[in-house]
Amino acid sequence: DRGHYRHFMLKEIHEQPRAVSETLEGRLSQSRVLEEAFGSEVGAILDRVERVQIVACGTSYHAGLVARYWCESHAGVPCDVEVASEFRYRSHVLAPATLLVTISQSGETADTLAALRDARERGYLATLAICNVPQSSLVRESDLILMTRAGPEIGVASTKAFTTQLTALLLLIIALGRRHKLSADCEAAFVRALHNLPRQLEAALALEPSIEALAEEFVDKRHSLFLGRGVQYPIAMEGALKLKEISYIHAEAYPAGELKHGPLALVDAEMPVVTVAPNDELIEKLKSNLQEVRARGGRLYVFADAATAIATEDGYVVQTVPQSDEITAPIVYTIPLQLLAYHVAVFKGTDVDQPRNLAKSVTVE
Ligand code: F6R
Repeated sequence: DRGHYRHFMLKEIHEQPRAVSETLEGRLSQSRVLEEAFGSEVGAILDRVERVQIVACGTSYHAGLVARYWCESHAGVPCDVEVASEFRYRSHVLAPATLLVTISQSGETADTLAALRDARERGYLATLAICNVPQSSLVRESDLILMTRAGPEIGVASTKAFTTQLTALLLLIIALGRRHKLSADCEAAFVRALHNLPRQLEAALALEPSIEALAEEFVDKRHSLFLGRGVQYPIAMEGALKLKEISYIHAEAYPAGELKHGPLALVDAEMPVVTVAPNDELIEKLKSNLQEVRARGGRLYVFADAATAIATEDGYVVQTVPQSDEITAPIVYTIPLQLLAYHVAVFKGTDVDQPRNLAKSVTVE
């Protein structure tokens, strides 16, 4: 039931504060992640994990890419991420004590399931699924399960599944990290950020009217670039995927530092460039990347923290995103990009919930 929403996708975008709260429910104290809540066997396995291999497809793969940044920088544990269709057909070297993590909304994606089944024979330490459907094959066949509790996702374009996957991944990385590099103080700060997250997602949703106004400028565009750096690069990839799948505008994501290695040649007045720019340690580098675009006449749409002091001026449209905690910023910045894709598609009149050529669950290779 769509309720008063025009599309399931819009309803699901707005459900995110609640879906994230549900995913956190019972899994956090004031200052700690309660890993017992993931299952009684989890602790003994995490004690032995020395590296992580993540496998997923599409939007779930993008969640894995964010997790890699978190895992290596905060847990201090090596982490690889690969799309399932590549992973399963590539012979690879398996390091000892590797945890295989699959991520899937449906738990029925053929390539992800096949990768899991292969892994069981290859000698991984254990398999852990982050999944949204309790009765799914992925859940039945994995050793450990960390459920996202997004509720049924009907829109083909994944929204609340993604933000709850990121939430679950952060819980996992904290639980793993405390056995490695993550200090108790750092854990407490991350847990505080998780407690703040539903409220920050609400604040990001309140940007909808101004994002809708921006979206109108994309209606006659054929191509677009999405830029981010660091942990926000996969968020740019996810923003580009959302836009292309529901509005049919070609959208390509680049790490901002790669611009001058090729894509800058595409930039002109007809090429909107969408940038995710929270106030993190890469902001000064990002600002100089934006100058490069501006100097070529490109129109920039920048989603930024007020503290970045990037102001709307010639060639820039700045959408200020409410203050968020640095660790959870990728989750918060996902919201404006989802809203942008949604409103561009509505202006274009495409079938938002059922985009052409796509199925909700890809159960064949
Ligand atoms: C994009 C989208 C797809 C899925 C992908 C994996 O909006 O929905 O890219 O993310 O097909 O599906 P799951 O997560 O069910 O394995």
